[in-house]
Amino acid sequence: MRVKDGCRVAILGATGAVGTELLALLEERQFPVSELRLLASPRSVGTTLMFRGEPLPVQATTAEAFEGIDIVLASAGGSTSKAWAETAIAAGAVVIDNSSAFRMDPTVPLVVPEVNPEAAANHRGLIANPNCTTILMAVAIYPLHQVQPLRRVVAATYQSASGAGARAMEEVKQQARAILAGETPTAEAFPYPLAFNLFPHNSPLTPSGYCEEELKMVNETRKIFGVADLPVTATCVRVPVLRAHSEALNLEFSEPFDLDRARAAIAAAPGVTLLEDWDQNYFPMPIDASGKDDVLVGRIRQDLSNPNAIELWLCGDQIRKGAALNAVQIAELLVERSWLRPAVASA
Ligand code: A2P
Repeated sequence: MRVKDGCRVAILGATGAVGTELLALLEERQFPVSELRLLASPRSVGTTLMFRGEPLPVQATTAEAFEGIDIVLASAGGSTSKAWAETAIAAGAVVIDNSSAFRMDPTVPLVVPEVNPEAAANHRGLIANPNCTTILMAVAIYPLHQVQPLRRVVAATYQSASGAGARAMEEVKQQARAILAGETPTAEAFPYPLAFNLFPHNSPLTPSGYCEEELKMVNETRKIFGVADLPVTATCVRVPVLRAHSEALNLEFSEPFDLDRARAAIAAAPGVTLLEDWDQNYFPMPIDASGKDDVLVGRIRQDLSNPNAIELWLCGDQIRKGAALNAVQIAELLVERSWLRPAVASA
């Protein structure tokens, strides 16, 4: 591959909340970039973003923009990914897609590098980055699943505004200002005001009564863990936090899980930090996790209602490990293991 001279990388959705983080991470992690193209909607043409101290122009997304590109990091929403993925693949690129468009496609690997790195080898030019709450949960519970196989997962999430993009984050700030000024807040990015409020996750409801976000946690976790019938259930809630998600997890095993073993497994695992101070009642908070790479885990305790279950609390940066960092780690995996070339012919 051409990687010895660096990769030609395109960020699709470069001006968004995840796109700007992708840009920062490529620089911060010294990803071998020989050329970088910043792609967005025609609205953003004329703007520039900084990379390695230089301003780079944002380009409109066109077929020509993918020519000669090795890796596309896509975070511009499902419809944009669907519109451009095959064009990028045909141009010879590997697309690492942050949208939900292809995640459950059996020909598309769904990868969390700390959990199932090997899955990334078998791509046809397209690899999916999982849903943010799913990534954070997977990184935290996989080390326990390796010690004793999980029998059931019950999740409740507390999800920040960042999951809905940069516009939604700005909207929450505006709503807070309006409320503090005694005005009535308005909502556009979200269906309801989020500042000083919370609501069940705003993704579309399905006939099952679960919203799509909740079903992503169910189905994507099964695919990532390679356990097709793993019982997982979730209630997802949007909370007025700007950029880190939190999750309360009840994890059931087929026999009791010693808490010291659980702590040791979490403490030794990549991508997770154990953060517990029982004397101070101090456990992970979104402000601790914001801007951090690791998922912060704490409050590991015995489930009083079930001898075979434990409770666990986590916070993780939704934009970083929940999206941009995981995508860049997948790109690093492809380069380090020489997996850029498709192992499977494109459909
Ligand atoms: P733009 O800023 O030009 O609208 P977020 O998730 O934070 O809302 O960001 C979405 C990203 O996806 C932005 O970079 C946005 O660009 C980009 N985007 C939205 N629609 C399109 C499109 N049709 N083609 C290319 N990029 C798009």
